[in-house]
Amino acid sequence: EAAEKAGFEHFMMKEIHEQPKAVRDTLNSVLKDGAIDLSEVGLTDEDIQKISQIYIVACGSAYHVGMAAQYVIEDLARIPVRVELASEFRYRNPILDPNGLVIIVSQSGETADSLAALRESKKHGLRTLGIVNVVGSSIAREADNVFYTLAGPEISVATTKAYSTQLIAAYALAIQFGKVRGELDEEKYQELITELQTIPDKISKILEDDRERIQWFAAKQANAKDAFFIGRGIDYAISMEGSLKMKEVSYVHTEAYAAGELKHGTISLIEEGTLVIGILTQNHLYEKTISNMVECKSRGAYLMGLTTFGHYNIEDTADFTVYIPKTDEHFATSLAVIPLQLLGYYVSVAKGLDVDKPRNLAKSVTVE
Ligand code: G6P
Repeated sequence: EAAEKAGFEHFMMKEIHEQPKAVRDTLNSVLKDGAIDLSEVGLTDEDIQKISQIYIVACGSAYHVGMAAQYVIEDLARIPVRVELASEFRYRNPILDPNGLVIIVSQSGETADSLAALRESKKHGLRTLGIVNVVGSSIAREADNVFYTLAGPEISVATTKAYSTQLIAAYALAIQFGKVRGELDEEKYQELITELQTIPDKISKILEDDRERIQWFAAKQANAKDAFFIGRGIDYAISMEGSLKMKEVSYVHTEAYAAGELKHGTISLIEEGTLVIGILTQNHLYEKTISNMVECKSRGAYLMGLTTFGHYNIEDTADFTVYIPKTDEHFATSLAVIPLQLLGYYVSVAKGLDVDKPRNLAKSVTVE
């Protein structure tokens, strides 16, 4: 097993470091002559034109990919998107548009609820697309179309690299759908693809620059009882994954909150020293989230800020800040999640927990 960990103490850390390669491989699998090519996936331009509505259905982190993808697809391709938890979707007798596309996101391709949601969608006569990592898995076999993520085998129960590759698949779909449906001109299309190709190196840079600082911060936070992750828009989707990572592996009670909703309840939980992590990658929402952080601080919160280089005035508010490289804002999830994975990991290590096999959790949930 030591050999399989390639010098890392845990699979989770190994897999965190495999993300640049996993992301690059997945992206390259759909790039041809500088354009996105979905012919392997099996979606023609005509198929893409017909889509009236997208339903993204998944569980766990894969559901959080859907949350981020919703913002990206709606903005770039102007197709309405609904994101649903598979365990809810399958039992609620959904009203589905016959020209809708159902996207099932699943690393294992075996999650019972996601598979049931796929079957339910097919029963309604909708086209189904699986974003799946495990080749030949049930969801891959039964979906009409498959977009394989090339993350390679993921051992750690808490997903990192599979999640990152699922995001790339979602971006590629959003960009291509936008192009085919006339929402993106050639110049914007090329610009987005070029930017997407810089993501792997930017992830490497975050791993190099921030690892030690986050390890230090995590050790200081090892006794935290609660943590709140807040953000707006795409940053809310990132908050959800950051929160899940921390609760899964470090057993700290965490919640992700849309920053604007704080004052409708959650803020009553803020006490002296409560950890609040603000995520601010979206320019037009920056000031709004800062003001929510200030509200938490005035009630005693200890603030971590996660934002892009250049937003140095965050240090007027945050007690600890992590900066990530700038990218097109649609792709910010791919960068912002990295420090949050490290944070969950290092809090778990500081507490001496079983990082790769957290209590009560399974890698693949094949029962309801
Ligand atoms: C389990 C794992 C999660 C994963 C979820 C969905 O709960 O612990 O990391 O996100 O299942 O799994 P899937 O294989 O469908 O992506």
